[in-house]
Amino acid sequence: MTNLSVARSAPPAAATPATSGIAPEASLAGRIAAEIESGKVELPVLPEAAVRVREIVGAGGSARELVSVIEREPSLAAAILRYSNSVAYAGLREITDLHQAVMRLGFSAVEQTVIALSARNVFQATDKADEQIYRALWTHSIATALAARRLAPRASDFNPEAVFLSGLLHDIGKVVVLRCAALMRRRDPARFTFERSTLVEFLDALHCNAGDRLCRAWNLPAEIREVVKRHHDAALDAPGDALVAIVQLANGVATKIGASLEPDPHVSLLDLSGAALLRLDDVKLAALLVDVEDDVARMEEGF
Ligand SMILES: [Fe+2]
Ligand SMILES: [Fe+2]
Repeated sequence: MTNLSVARSAPPAAATPATSGIAPEASLAGRIAAEIESGKVELPVLPEAAVRVREIVGAGGSARELVSVIEREPSLAAAILRYSNSVAYAGLREITDLHQAVMRLGFSAVEQTVIALSARNVFQATDKADEQIYRALWTHSIATALAARRLAPRASDFNPEAVFLSGLLHDIGKVVVLRCAALMRRRDPARFTFERSTLVEFLDALHCNAGDRLCRAWNLPAEIREVVKRHHDAALDAPGDALVAIVQLANGVATKIGASLEPDPHVSLLDLSGAALLRLDDVKLAALLVDVEDDVARMEEGF
């Protein structure tokens, strides 16, 4: 079995391979990890439109090509138009044409918007029994993305939409683990029907590696993959760690306001690397919490 590093919040034994004499949960976590590594679990698929948009942008394609993909998906087309007329572009003439919208936003923002909207489909439960946990995971992902976007202007090098997307996808590995657990439950319900708390432990222990695998399958940019893989690392003070540290702090904000599978109002945000990096003190963090709570309440209705 591939050696699995364990996320910081995970119980240390949870990713240990199955051997006699260890806790049953630990051997089950090892079993899930082995299933994922074996490639038997069908990974979530990035929707076709997102794949095409990525290819076109990557190959230096034209706005016309992008528009031809986006216009086939009414929800995408509507979102791109809405975005091009959003407050960020207040004062500019209203755009009603998709080609002009793509030109105003730029290819990179269009690509990020398409991937973000596509992610919604990936966070859909494959089994009815898991609907509640998927819903909570989606809310957590949105809250983390919104918090990350609020933090982005404090760091000089990042585009807010790229930071938003990193926040949105940071726990995408949990979808892989949930799918694997559902597959095992379908095969052998008596043995693999887990309590919610046990399932959450598995998610904590395995999601960073599972997410890394998915990032490779989707060919996502290296910086997003780093976030997915390392957002529970304790030390994030190397020069290249800023985006991971921002998303880790955003994850802490989401957890503290209750938008999490494991809400915790006592999370100490000041202790996270991102707080020092962005020079945030208690007062600024308290204001951030209020802003993100408002953002989440608005977003839950519309996204
Ligand atoms: Fe995580
Ligand atoms: Fe998270």
